Amino acid sequence: MGHRIPGFMTMMKLTGVVLLAVPMLGFAVYSARFGLRGLGLDLSQETYIYTPDKVWPNLAIFSHMALGAVVMGFVPLQLVRQLRHRVPWLHRMTGRVIVAGSIIVALGGLVYIGLRGTIAGPLMDVGFALYGLLMLGAAVQTFRHARAGAIEQHSEWALRLFVLVMGSLIFRLHYVIWYILTDGLWSNEALTGPFDQVQYFAFYLPYLIGLELWIRRRRVLRAA
Ligand code: HEM
Repeated sequence: MGHRIPGFMTMMKLTGVVLLAVPMLGFAVYSARFGLRGLGLDLSQETYIYTPDKVWPNLAIFSHMALGAVVMGFVPLQLVRQLRHRVPWLHRMTGRVIVAGSIIVALGGLVYIGLRGTIAGPLMDVGFALYGLLMLGAAVQTFRHARAGAIEQHSEWALRLFVLVMGSLIFRLHYVIWYILTDGLWSNEALTGPFDQVQYFAFYLPYLIGLELWIRRRRVLRAA
């Protein structure tokens, strides 16, 4: 029996996975390192995110980064159908880590916004607080529906949570692409330029809307 040559779509999918996995891994390592250093060291000379002589804002934002890395590392595993079916206990275990991690990541971000505010002020606070609330909601719903055995709803909320987790990476990717293309037009270090203001919402809202349309289409096709 000869080996089947992978089809064009399989190759495209594999390329897509690799193209996404590399920045994901890079960002997860960056986030874990930044978080752990912020929890253990005084970083006030290095970053405005560190609040000198205060426990809560530092605990909130740096544990947020460290756990965000864990969530980002685990979340793609949940999408692999073979793993879900062949090793269901692994799916449940990593699922619990992701849900608990996402809740702490979201709460950490929200506490930091409440105590310190974001670098760019009220509009960015609103964009990021909405992002945090959506992540909190999606994590709770994913868990609730799994517990209730409502697999269809569980999978829809899990996809929403996936897109939201990816949002933290997409935010950075938008900047990398924009700076390569325009050399930072309408953007500045304080993140208050027109491009930055669009980004407060553009790293998650359009992707969530796209996912919502896809979910609706899938429901219609499944019902047909
Ligand atoms: C898995 C998801 C997430 C990861 C991995 C993550 C990681 C990070 C990292 C590494 C930073 C440091 C800034 C940088 O160097 O770019 C950061 C900052 C921040 N994150 Fe997150 N984050 C995640 C989700 C969230 C969520 C859901 C919120 C909303 C509550 C949030 C709010 C913030 C805020 C407010 C800052 C500081 C922004 C500033 O003023 O510069 N993050 N995050």
